[in-house]
Amino acid sequence: MKAKFRSVAYSHTTITELMIPAYANFGGKIHGGIILSLMDKVAYACAAKHSRGYSVTVSVSNVNFIAPIEVGDLVSLTASVNYVGKSSMVIGIRVDAENCLTGEITHANSSYFTMVAMEEDRTPRSVPGLILETKDDVLKFVQAMRYRKSRFELQEEFDQYKSNINLSEELNTGLLEGQNCMVIDL
Ligand SMILES: CC(C)(COP(=O)(O)OP(=O)(O)OC[C@H]1O[C@@H](n2cnc3c(N)ncnc32)[C@H](O)[C@@H]1OP(=O)(O)O)[C@@H](O)C(=O)NCCC(=O)NCCS
Repeated sequence: MKAKFRSVAYSHTTITELMIPAYANFGGKIHGGIILSLMDKVAYACAAKHSRGYSVTVSVSNVNFIAPIEVGDLVSLTASVNYVGKSSMVIGIRVDAENCLTGEITHANSSYFTMVAMEEDRTPRSVPGLILETKDDVLKFVQAMRYRKSRFELQEEFDQYKSNINLSEELNTGLLEGQNCMVIDL
């Protein structure tokens, strides 16, 4: 029988990977894209466990690279389901880099990945609800709910702005004064 609810702990997932020289950029630090790819993997694993099925990444938000990651660091990516809707799951991810030699741990990144569970015909599939067992589970659920709502509102506001923009009017307000740009021709 399919579960109607699953706990946050049920799908909590950690992936740990050693940062090898092939992952480095020209500056000698780890490529942001390598970390993003690992984040997508851990988000998928967490979502697949909660929904016990296939899911896709529909949105990546609030990705901030707080500190550089060095070659030789051991990177741990921890994912947990923070919020579920009908078919979507907001996965909170935290990335920590450990210097293997000193043991020093640096918080490198945190973000939200939204995954949607899919049927075989590629339509969204309902997922089990979330059992909130701890105060932290409730806090994360409420925060993710609020973040999701703000994002949708912001997206709607921006879509309206983009479709209604009157460029000449905007420019007449001196919008570009003091900006680091040079308008050649319109
Ligand atoms: C995921 C996908 C099926 C959603 O399609 P859709 O027509 O928006 O479907 P729905 O409107 O029914 O939305 C399904 C869920 O996704 C959520 N969703 C859709 N777009 C979203 C977005 N940009 N951000 C967050 N959630 C989103 C909806 O809120 C809904 O959640 P709920 O069921 O929990 O209420 C479709 O956008 C898709 O196939 N995207 C490509 C995914 C993919 O290939 N990812 C890999 C990238 S390489």
